[in-house]
Amino acid sequence: MVQKKRLEDVAVTKYLQTCDIPGESFQVEPFTLVIFGGTGDLSRKKLLPALFHIYLGNELPDHFSILSVGGSNLEDDSYRILVERALRGSDEVCFSEEKWAEFRSRLFYLSGNLEEEETYRRLCSRLDQVLVPTREGHRDVIYYLAIPPQTMPIVVNLLNRHGLCRGPLDTKIIVEKPFGRDLASAVRLNRLLTSAFDERQVYRIDHYLGKETVQNIIFFRFSNSIFEQLWNHRYIDNVQITVAEDMGIDNRVRFYEQAGVIRDIVQNHILQLIGLIAMEPPVGFEADFIRDEKTKVFRSLHPMKEEQVDRFTVIGQYGPGKVQEKEVPGYRQEKGVSPGSTTPTFFAGAFYIANWRWAGVPFYVRTGKRLARRITEIAIQFDQPPLRLFGRTCDVLEPNVLLLTIQPEEKISLRFGVKVPGMPNQIYPIDMKFSYRETFQSPPHPAYERLIQDCLKGDLTLFVRQDQIEAMWEAVDPIISCWENQPPPNFPNYAAGSWGPLEAKKLLEQEGRRWITG
Ligand code: BG6
Repeated sequence: MVQKKRLEDVAVTKYLQTCDIPGESFQVEPFTLVIFGGTGDLSRKKLLPALFHIYLGNELPDHFSILSVGGSNLEDDSYRILVERALRGSDEVCFSEEKWAEFRSRLFYLSGNLEEEETYRRLCSRLDQVLVPTREGHRDVIYYLAIPPQTMPIVVNLLNRHGLCRGPLDTKIIVEKPFGRDLASAVRLNRLLTSAFDERQVYRIDHYLGKETVQNIIFFRFSNSIFEQLWNHRYIDNVQITVAEDMGIDNRVRFYEQAGVIRDIVQNHILQLIGLIAMEPPVGFEADFIRDEKTKVFRSLHPMKEEQVDRFTVIGQYGPGKVQEKEVPGYRQEKGVSPGSTTPTFFAGAFYIANWRWAGVPFYVRTGKRLARRITEIAIQFDQPPLRLFGRTCDVLEPNVLLLTIQPEEKISLRFGVKVPGMPNQIYPIDMKFSYRETFQSPPHPAYERLIQDCLKGDLTLFVRQDQIEAMWEAVDPIISCWENQPPPNFPNYAAGSWGPLEAKKLLEQEGRRWITG
């Protein structure tokens, strides 16, 4: 009897140990965050508001410093003014004068050319001034690369050359997307990073993974056995992922002209969503167990041959139109864009996963700028019943659909048919709905906050591993190069405020399906 109890204890303990995320009591040690690109769009709109918000919630240690390094001609005080302006203008923080007075004293700026040795010599001595050691005497430094991909290798090389990666400092490095601009450059960047840092020090960020509703995909799938039984090619007809934006390119013309929609959204955010929807259950909840399973999905993506790209994908560029009742210019009329630009701002495609669970199930994806409205949604469409039992009136049945809405309203709904009262054999589709806001009465945790906090805690679960990055590029590289090598079709081919080019609609119609999100 005693023996049996012990065995049960072991089993229970083992089960609980599959979760390695530190509990609430985890205490973050003093650190210095060095931001390369600390005056840029991303830092002003996302990163610094996220840090300030974490600070407002008293979740940063007493001692920390933020040192921004860049080419702007700024001193500590003028940088603080720039940050203050960004925080006051941010929707993501509720500005507090008192907290700002404390926070600002932790902000510093080092002005210098990121490509010159001298900047890194000065960085060493500046770090000596601003660093506060941890309780155990470590000097924790996190580098944040919020800079264009072409500058990343230069910065990593110079950090390494100046002994700033290993050695007396305990470092981590956060690398923003896009990680490289194709497989070859991503491999080179990975090689360089892992020659300067260990893989466990490298945090490749994809902010979609920090979104509460994106994380929920794993929880939803693996904590509800009713859905997981049906989660395969036997019961699922197709999966649709829409990442639609109503905004244009803001003031990111230089970046966008070089990237285009596939590098900007498909190679990272959309493939990560496919990874979460399609992965097998991980052995446990540790970072690498989850990342292993996602990598397998990316490796199983059916490689698209050149002659298939035309058939299975659609690209587009927006022309002038009306978004939310407001006239907006076309992409080629945006300030800084060349009038003959061939950069795609829209992509739709069908991906197939060549594995046991998903053989034959299309994963349709669609993303674009200046579409009818902002919505990110995953629709899982189930098979139709094998027999139409209810006669002629029900010839066209609405399929069962599970909708995971990531934004703007975070919700999950399940669509099914019910009999219309009083009407013979009439079926009506209804949605059973769960809303985050209604149930939990609070907005979900912003993505960057979660990711920064995870990095501070040393949790890599929501960051992208080297092998995933490379497998993801392998999937999109042939598509990008095929479209780049042929003259773009009739650009602009969709009006701002629409749902994209007609061909995107036809992509599904030719297979007897239609986009569910709209
Ligand atoms: C970024 C892209 O990664 O994601 C942007 O570079 C895009 O072009 C943004 O607008 C969308 O993020 P979100 O969180 O607003 O869906």
